[in-house]
Amino acid sequence: MTNSVLFTPKAMGTIVSPNRIVMAPMTRSRTAQPGDIPTDLMATYYAQRASAGFIITEATQISKQGKGYSFTPGMYSEEHVNGWRKVTNAVHAAEGRIFSQLWHVGRMSHESLHEDGTPVAPSALSPDAQVWIVGDDGVGRMLDCPIPRALSNDDIKDIIDDYRHTAKNAIEAGFDGIEIHAGNGYLIDQFLRRSSNKRDDEYGGSIENRIRFAVEIIDAVSHEIGADKVGIRLAPFITQRGMNDTQVIDAILLAAKLFNDLGIAYIHLSEADWDDAPAVSDSFRHDLRAAFNGAIIVAGNYTAESGEKIIASGLVDFVAYGRKFLANPDLPYRFKNNLPLNEITDSSTLFGGGEVGYTDFPCYTI
Ligand SMILES: Cc1cc2nc3c(=O)[nH]c(=O)nc-3n(C[C@H](O)[C@H](O)[C@H](O)COP(=O)(O)O)c2cc1C
Repeated sequence: MTNSVLFTPKAMGTIVSPNRIVMAPMTRSRTAQPGDIPTDLMATYYAQRASAGFIITEATQISKQGKGYSFTPGMYSEEHVNGWRKVTNAVHAAEGRIFSQLWHVGRMSHESLHEDGTPVAPSALSPDAQVWIVGDDGVGRMLDCPIPRALSNDDIKDIIDDYRHTAKNAIEAGFDGIEIHAGNGYLIDQFLRRSSNKRDDEYGGSIENRIRFAVEIIDAVSHEIGADKVGIRLAPFITQRGMNDTQVIDAILLAAKLFNDLGIAYIHLSEADWDDAPAVSDSFRHDLRAAFNGAIIVAGNYTAESGEKIIASGLVDFVAYGRKFLANPDLPYRFKNNLPLNEITDSSTLFGGGEVGYTDFPCYTI
């Protein structure tokens, strides 16, 4: 695939990506405890994958309240910034580029992670979903999410400020930019959809009101660090976690126009969380392209061939690979030379643990 469009460089925001192969954000739950601090091992893992056009980190909480799973990293304390600086230094030393994915899980959380025992959400509705929590016995289990507390208007302003503050922290930690995680049924997604947002104030009801939270966050972080360092991840096609709402496509297309006015670097579509990838219509792709002038990234079960094809269509600029990058630190090299790929053989190493199933996937050798 040496001459493939996958290997053509492209400028995006403040970076120039040497290829179109992005490493998708993947939670790996390997921070140091207590405090959810990024480690040297995480720096090794990301640096191994520095040949990506750019890397998007695992989801990283903007506050204690924004946490939903054990051992996921934070970005709100000085220790977090210092830990992440090791990661960005290692990636930059390996000539890579790296964005931080900023995250608030909202109702996708567990009572054990909250001092008052209650996660927060636009409305007091349970997601009918589970999160991965490690108990006092050291064993990780999937546990039910409780009914959350509905956020007040003042709470919402505080959360927007947490996004702003952690965007600033990410730049201080050496990241090339940030990605706001607005997909997969987490807090911002919960605001976008009628199924999880029953508010009757300016953050609920009409499409304009339901996208307001996302737009105010993007506005706040763009003013803080520069819109050319900001991307957003959206997942219009998921329906699990109580997220089914046919109007979400209209909401996302209207939001895309407003993100365009703010001048952000990219929109990243999570087309599948795991294998639940519905077909994405061409008309949606055309509408998104028409609404947004920045880069468009897609992710979800892409191969080298399907990635090349969708970029060649002109409707997309980058393809993010998740599980293939997890198991193949040298993924661009393998794609370029049509080499076989390593597979994930032990799913128990995905979340939590050490080097096994994390930094021990081999690069290709003859
Ligand atoms: C282990 C694992 C962890 C994930 N964690 C995140 C995450 O933190 N943030 C996110 O937006 N998506 C997350 N995802 C979804 C991936 O970014 C990606 O969209 C998904 O794996 C589909 O792409 P793939 O078929 O190339 O793996 C995760 C996926 C996997 C496999």
